[in-house]
Amino acid sequence: EAPWIRICELAPHEGKRVTIKGWVYNKRSSGKIHFLQVRDGSGFIQAVMERSSVSEELFAAAKSLWLEASVEIEGTVRRDDRAPSGFELGVTDLRIVSNPTLEYPISKKEHGIDFLLDHRHLWLRSRRQRCIMAIRDRVILSCRNFLHSKGFMLVDSPILTGSIGEGADGLFELDYFDLGKAYLAQTGQLYLEAAAAAYGRVYCFGPTFRAEKSKTRRHLTEFWMIEPEAAFFEHRDNMALQEEMVSHLVKEVLEHHEKDLVFLERDVDALARAVDGPFHHITYDEAVKLLHKLGSDIPYGDDFGGDDETMLTQQFQRPVFVECYPKKVKAFYMKQHPEREDLVLCDDLLAPEGYGEIIGGSQREDDLDLLLSSIRAHNLPEESYSWYLDIRRYGSFPHSGFGMGIERAVAWICGLKHIREAIPWPRTIYRLNP
Ligand code: 4AD
Ligand code: MG
Repeated sequence: EAPWIRICELAPHEGKRVTIKGWVYNKRSSGKIHFLQVRDGSGFIQAVMERSSVSEELFAAAKSLWLEASVEIEGTVRRDDRAPSGFELGVTDLRIVSNPTLEYPISKKEHGIDFLLDHRHLWLRSRRQRCIMAIRDRVILSCRNFLHSKGFMLVDSPILTGSIGEGADGLFELDYFDLGKAYLAQTGQLYLEAAAAAYGRVYCFGPTFRAEKSKTRRHLTEFWMIEPEAAFFEHRDNMALQEEMVSHLVKEVLEHHEKDLVFLERDVDALARAVDGPFHHITYDEAVKLLHKLGSDIPYGDDFGGDDETMLTQQFQRPVFVECYPKKVKAFYMKQHPEREDLVLCDDLLAPEGYGEIIGGSQREDDLDLLLSSIRAHNLPEESYSWYLDIRRYGSFPHSGFGMGIERAVAWICGLKHIREAIPWPRTIYRLNP
């Protein structure tokens, strides 16, 4: 019996007989020949069954196949330079594992986005979604490898928390037995700061939650964030690390997924240009001036909205760090600017081509009294931060970190119009299923 080989691993089997196990995603037939388009999760291939080379029963069986039938196909691997996998299969045998009796809901014609999202469990099978998920996998893998190689240790953070991580807005709350309220983590950062005091360079990676009412193309209620935190890193070191990580992961995607990017119709040159050279830096103050010049009427002191970020990033080919925002629009834990007490030592990294914020980072307030007054100024419940303040009581140290939203990064790299395609199961205020 011919060995089972995945489509992505056919190259060394050219000219040999193999078995492919997968699904029929398209089919064309004439009286003499069936062209079965088969995918097995690792790739796509055309299996050609000629009437003259199989039995009557087998030819009829192939004719009976519905879209998305699961099959095992035996055949000879033939080179075909026009094919996406580089090969086609000359069919010698076919076993039908399961032949649907219903028409597959997703057809070649254009479907509306709500229909596709309602069928996300099936939509994931499409070629386009495979390209996106493969790039997402690469982004995550590259970040992990990068951080590991830089001496960062993975220290997982909890999802159920008792202390508010970012701010009182946008919290998912639930009742937690006799202990009152628990929250779904908005960030793992506070726990990482404690871990940084223990192990120096650490990171966490997991789902985070924001009960945000924002209905923009950039917001999910559940998203995945990779968060490094480093002891004795200052604001500048923090930005250098972000730049190195983002450049690294974009280069990894360019190296391994050029075909996927092309299939997604991503402007690959623009992406390559984005990491070819140092990132830009501007301060919040400069950014507001630039926005005013571009016709925006944003008041000084306000946080940037999506439109402001879009306008800003269209001015740059490479990602741009916006540094030192006003304290009052940022989270309580950020370190006060040494010369301007109205500002904090933070950065947002904005991706070019209108994508906007993919990273938020900062140096952390390491002064116990300043941190405590910030917690009070933000009206946060002081009692629940006693453990967090201990980090400042026992050997306080300068430290910095950042969080990169995986979906934001993937949406930019893939050139997606909306972040919902960058996650397998998007959660928005309107969607909990599938
Ligand atoms: O800027 P944020 O809120 O920063 C933090 O959570 C810090 N505690 C991170 C840290 O310093 N360790 O969020 C960080 C990133 C954003 O830049 C964005 O990429 C992503 O998380 N993000 C979202 N992605 C999708 N949907 C949302 N609603 C998001 N909110 C933030
Ligand atoms: Mg932010």
